[in-house]
Amino acid sequence: MRIYQEADYEAMSRRAANLISAEVIRNPACVLGLATGSTPVGTYRQLAAWNQRGDFSFREVRTVNLDEYKGLAPTHDQSYRYFMQENLFDHIDIDVANTNVPDGLAADPAVECRRYDALVRSLGYADLQLLGLGRNGHIGFNEPCDRFVKETHVVDLTDSTIDANARFFATRDDVPRQALTMGIGCIMSARRVLLIASGSDKTDAVYNAFCGPITPQCPASILQLHNDVVLVGDKAALRKLVEAGVPVCE
Ligand code: F6R
Repeated sequence: MRIYQEADYEAMSRRAANLISAEVIRNPACVLGLATGSTPVGTYRQLAAWNQRGDFSFREVRTVNLDEYKGLAPTHDQSYRYFMQENLFDHIDIDVANTNVPDGLAADPAVECRRYDALVRSLGYADLQLLGLGRNGHIGFNEPCDRFVKETHVVDLTDSTIDANARFFATRDDVPRQALTMGIGCIMSARRVLLIASGSDKTDAVYNAFCGPITPQCPASILQLHNDVVLVGDKAALRKLVEAGVPVCE
């Protein structure tokens, strides 16, 4: 595992964008696993700027997003499809037909989960999977629970996740209570995982994920078993890891 400690959010975003663009340049038809949330916004902004400058192209890239709220239409401004259009896809030369987000409006969510798993498998899994990290250690919407769920599934969001995401909605009551999320199996099948974390409210989660026991109570801790993980964090998010003596690159 490689850990990059960056000064702040901007530097974290640039480093992450750099690693993603290197993947696209090396393999122009790569499969990128993508995340939403506030952490990757700067990374996507940087990727879009480099793409618009002509440094590399997303024309052949395929993407699979981690998750989607159950019950939100792609046009809902808090849906993850909408987020991806707004923050990345509308600003780069990607073919939208090559982008995939679980369908939050599927009539039968269980069928949709099976379809999504089959799709990710048919693409050969992500060459590079970008992840954010929940304060409770979740990745995608794999919430702390008593087992690691391998497949794409419908999940009940925990109170802590609803609280954390309420900032994006008019009221806490508007936050959907369920989501469809890629399971741990798909995430662990990615060739490389790039986890990004920013801010002091992530320092415990980062520490637990990489220095704590491997347990489904901290879903990100499974990444300790992946053989190609890169963690990019700012100083605030990595503080506890660094204090514990874990070596980092700067
Ligand atoms: C969203 C996702 C989540 C977020 C996590 C952190 O697609 O996969 O696991 O990465 O909730 O969210 P932020 O970045 O908003 O702190």
